[in-house]
Amino acid sequence: MSQKIKLAERLKNVKPSGIRRFFRLAEKTSSSINLSVGEPDFRPPKHALDAGLQAAKEGKTHYAQTNGIQELREALAQKAYRDYGLNYDPDSEILITVGGTEAVFLALFSLVNPGEEVLIPDPGFVCYEPGIFLAGGIPVHFPLLEKNEFRPSIDNVISLLTEKSRVMMLNFPNNPTGAILSYNEAASLAKIAVERDMIVISDEVYEKIIYNDAKHYCLATFPGMQERTLVVNSFSKTYAMTGLRVGYVYGPKELISSLWLAHQYTVACVDTLAQYIALAALRGPQDFVENMVREFDRRRRLVYKRLNEIKGFHCLLPKGAFYVYPNVKNFGMSSEQFAEFLAKEAKVITVPGSAFGNYGEGYIRLSYAAAYSDLEKALNRIEKAVKKV
Ligand SMILES: Cc1ncc(COP(=O)(O)O)c(C=O)c1O
Repeated sequence: MSQKIKLAERLKNVKPSGIRRFFRLAEKTSSSINLSVGEPDFRPPKHALDAGLQAAKEGKTHYAQTNGIQELREALAQKAYRDYGLNYDPDSEILITVGGTEAVFLALFSLVNPGEEVLIPDPGFVCYEPGIFLAGGIPVHFPLLEKNEFRPSIDNVISLLTEKSRVMMLNFPNNPTGAILSYNEAASLAKIAVERDMIVISDEVYEKIIYNDAKHYCLATFPGMQERTLVVNSFSKTYAMTGLRVGYVYGPKELISSLWLAHQYTVACVDTLAQYIALAALRGPQDFVENMVREFDRRRRLVYKRLNEIKGFHCLLPKGAFYVYPNVKNFGMSSEQFAEFLAKEAKVITVPGSAFGNYGEGYIRLSYAAAYSDLEKALNRIEKAVKKV
């Protein structure tokens, strides 16, 4: 074929994720410690995996219903009521998706028209901006600044609104900073959405990974919000099931029905066996989650303490998720150069803050979803390496 291959215009702004590049670097760097990846190092609860094996033996290997198996949607409706007092109809207001990733994509794809603006946190999760570009929309970044403990400034969000503002994307507990919203902040953001008649996509995949007495506020619980919020969630982080690809989204019928349509013609349905595993995880004892979060907490304190002991780093204690986001501006390198330096000199793989947006520059993300002993080793290596700077 001599003709030059021409790709669709809509991909022109979409770049590969900056996380994947460092992930590959980890594979290439022998004896490296990989703190770049955003997934628990735990295995899913055994009773959940057993339920998957049982489902396989029973021949539950066929297509599932497009919107997900009935039992899982029912269990999720109960979860929303149990956790937040929210009522969702399992048949029309819940959709099971291929991880939170598909849910975010479907939401943006179904809601955003070309030229419409979507507010996104910066630094923020790497899927948001490409999803907006693929929908033809315009991302508008609202900063999460260290001086405000990486929480949004409400005045700043208001100042970014225009008549084209259509959707507000939120993600708390936040990846990459570990920040959470206070009740007042969540309420103020909800009020903006109601007053401006905006839709909120609230990515709450880290809802259960919060520490001490911190509290997570589901955006759909605020007045006037349930009818305008898509709550994205996932089994990936809560039950250490990243590879099984089960996520879900709650929302009003009118919105869920359009996500459902896009979902039908892209993936048909989510892996049936994985849905049975998710169902057992949700219905079974939750001590797995508590134990995992307790262990993350131990690691969080270690990484926070050790990083602040190393000259040059400045690190806040994250309140949720499993990342720390230290300031590395003192080292006089860009965050990309610094992450490369750590990969080469310390054989510790991190992610440069710039991968999460322009406001992420000057920081790196370390995931502490790695063994405690590996974290100790990694921090010793980092300490030794930065002495050379
Ligand atoms: C904020 C956030 N949202 C969504 C996801 C997607 O996860 P999954 O597709 O595995 O559910 C991730 C994964 O890292 C994330 O950090």
